[in-house]
Amino acid sequence: MNERDGRTDEGLLLRVAGAEHVAADIRMLRLRRADGGGLPPFVPGSHVVVDCGDRRNAYSLTGDGIEPEEYTISVLRCPGGDGGSVFLHGIEVGDVLRVSGPRSAFPPAASAHHHLLVAGGIGITPMLSHVRAARQWGRSFRLYYAHRPGAGAHVAELRRLCGDRLREYTGRADLTRAVRAELRASPLGTHLYACGPGEMLDDVRAGAAEAGWLADRVHVERFSAAELDPGAPFTVTLARSGTRVSVPSGVSLLEALEKAGTPVPNMCRQGVCGECRVSVVRGRPLHRDLYLSEAERAAADTVMCCVSRCLDQELELDL
Ligand code: FES
Repeated sequence: MNERDGRTDEGLLLRVAGAEHVAADIRMLRLRRADGGGLPPFVPGSHVVVDCGDRRNAYSLTGDGIEPEEYTISVLRCPGGDGGSVFLHGIEVGDVLRVSGPRSAFPPAASAHHHLLVAGGIGITPMLSHVRAARQWGRSFRLYYAHRPGAGAHVAELRRLCGDRLREYTGRADLTRAVRAELRASPLGTHLYACGPGEMLDDVRAGAAEAGWLADRVHVERFSAAELDPGAPFTVTLARSGTRVSVPSGVSLLEALEKAGTPVPNMCRQGVCGECRVSVVRGRPLHRDLYLSEAERAAADTVMCCVSRCLDQELELDL
């Protein structure tokens, strides 16, 4: 174990030091090292992957990433989901969770002159660390937040942190109308960060495109991979051995590789964490993850093998 930050090869073992509801159905967990030591720092927009029984789910870190003594995550209870959120709503103070080290997939752009943050519902969680860092470093920002009346998470805290830089809405249509107006008026050098329900993200992206924003100024984080179709079968060739592996419909590339004796490091298995990235030698990946940027997708030289597939019948990987 790394004495300084408690990290092991399997991640971090963290004790639940506190738990409270920050909105109806949203529970905030405070996670600390059992020995009281510090935790790895993280950049705004980072997440951790938490072992939730037989599932691993990604959750945004909502606190301050500089020399953190604890990690905080806020979990929306989804009774019809995969069971991870129900598991985390059931654990108690004192329980121990296995948590990955922090991963950054949604950081602020260093070159941005202004940060336009847009959140819907539980999509507010990555924005909390963005707001904290923007205040700390004196960055220009504005936050648009849509939540159902009485169901918004961290609202009082955000009002205190943001002051008049917070715009609140109780409906998606009002939010996207206001955001579209701001997108048309924003000066060059503004970067957009959006997290929330898929339809809201699609609206915001469309507004940015209509206003002439370049894709590299638009940063979107989705909660998890949408329900994915089983996909067409294809064959993958492992370049280093020449082995050919069939990937049937309904079986992920990651599962097919594991079955063929070529395991790939992975964590979330939902296209979120970035752990299962593999280099592509030949063929066109069908990207279905939530991790790669638009530029990385267009380059087509890597694939997240837990969810992504192939546009053709053949894919060759650097394995
Ligand atoms: S295992 Fe997390 S993106 Fe594939």
